[in-house]
Amino acid sequence: MKIIMLGAPGAGKGTQAKKIAEKCGIPHISTGDIFRANIKNGTELGKKAKTYMDQGLLVPDELVCDLVVDRIQQDDCKKGYILDGFPRTIPQAESLDKALQAIGEKMDYAIDVEVPDENIVKRMGGRRACVGCGATYHLVYAPTKKEGICDVCGGELILRDDDKPETVQKRLGVYHEQTQPLIDYYKNQGILREVDGSVDMEDVFKEILNILGV
Ligand code: AP5
Ligand code: ZN
Repeated sequence: MKIIMLGAPGAGKGTQAKKIAEKCGIPHISTGDIFRANIKNGTELGKKAKTYMDQGLLVPDELVCDLVVDRIQQDDCKKGYILDGFPRTIPQAESLDKALQAIGEKMDYAIDVEVPDENIVKRMGGRRACVGCGATYHLVYAPTKKEGICDVCGGELILRDDDKPETVQKRLGVYHEQTQPLIDYYKNQGILREVDGSVDMEDVFKEILNILGV
């Protein structure tokens, strides 16, 4: 199964994508996670991406598309995969379609996780990310067992640089302008499914499993 997660920053794409990937036994491919790992490792790609990410802007398409197209052709993607944070612009979606057409494949679902902007701002302020493994928590909605310490690896938890309120506002603006048009793009392809992302995470997950029929 090949799935795209759509939705505003903080809508819960990453949270749901991890759960679906685990349930379906397919890789979770998050472009945001890939960039953050590159930043942490001080790579050239990481250095370039950071200048955009810190401002709440999208990384240029040419730095993203080849990376994803290469990734989905690796062996572990044969059974399917879940894309989280990609595509984010119409040109990215077109380049994905072109790459898939070339190998005779197509995406099965684009799941749009819908959350009103005012809830997003509240959620982002409470999100905490592990510096060690990148796991995501929330102070109120997904707390760790021990305050400030990652349940998975024992790493320290931090507020992501781009989760500061002024950057969140900027990211929301960028989302509405550049990413939201993908909703119609995938509606026209007949693969769009919409879920209410403002309810409890487990209920969002159930709704998605229902759609996927798993
Ligand atoms: P990326 O990491 O993809 O960020 P994003 O899309 O802004 O998404 P987030 O990770 O912020 O949110 P999410 O929807 O995954 O929410 P989460 O599950 O964590 O990208 C970062 C940056 O990288 C971009 O700004 C851009 O610069 C660059 N980039 C990445 N991909 C790119 C691309 N393709 N092209 C160009 N640039 C790209 O949930 C949020 C919080 O809410 C968590 O704390 C969670 O615990 C909590 N939560 C989740 N669900 C619920 C619920 N149902 N109820 C209550 N709380 C919940
Ligand atoms: Zn961790």
